Amino acid sequence: MNDKQCVAEEAVRHVQDGMLIGLGTGSTANAFIEALARRYAEEGLRIRVAASSVVSTIKAQELGLPLVAMEHLTSLDLYVDGADEVSPDLALLKGRGSDLVREKLLARASDRFLVLVDESKLVGRIGERYPIPVEVMPFAWQVVLRELERHGAQGGLRPNASKDGLAVTSHGSLVLDMRFPVEMPSAALNALLDAMSGVVEHGIFHGLAGSVLVVSEGHVRTLSPAGP
Ligand code: A5P
Repeated sequence: MNDKQCVAEEAVRHVQDGMLIGLGTGSTANAFIEALARRYAEEGLRIRVAASSVVSTIKAQELGLPLVAMEHLTSLDLYVDGADEVSPDLALLKGRGSDLVREKLLARASDRFLVLVDESKLVGRIGERYPIPVEVMPFAWQVVLRELERHGAQGGLRPNASKDGLAVTSHGSLVLDMRFPVEMPSAALNALLDAMSGVVEHGIFHGLAGSVLVVSEGHVRTLSPAGP
């Protein structure tokens, strides 16, 4: 069993009969979907799932999990997803894929958000390794970029995979991948981006993680947010 399967097996223990579960996107989320499908088949759990992307929808469908469309749900019991970075205050960086809006909606709507990562995702501050994705309405990108540059950020529009055009999210937006000055804490960045006109969503998940399961060489440890 590899590390992703190992942390997925640990996460699937949190699933109980009757739950509505949100499925994340990425290789670690895929391992969780597989572990969940196995429990579903073996134990006959009466669960339902909602997916954060087309890819995860197809995966869940192929494995026979009962899907609920996002527009039919108001809340979830559990959301399980990976992350690109996790800082010591358990803020997350997400959105390397193109499904940021759905990912954050599911994270917000769930009673508990379980994040699955390996040690390589732990960073000193959000934005240490990756630029912060800022999803923008297509007609607003220049105004938003100028505003972000006024706050000391540098970056630009994300190209598509073949680098011959622009990346377009599953929501139909463009993405600005931005690097911010190191002294800006993620809470301040989160507030800045939350309040900016023309921004559809951004990759900082502040105060949303319920627990972070960190896997290293077959061992899983749990990080929980500090109390108030
Ligand atoms: C998707 O948009 C991201 O938020 C993913 O959660 C992230 O890229 C994690 O992917 P891996 O589990 O493949 O590292």
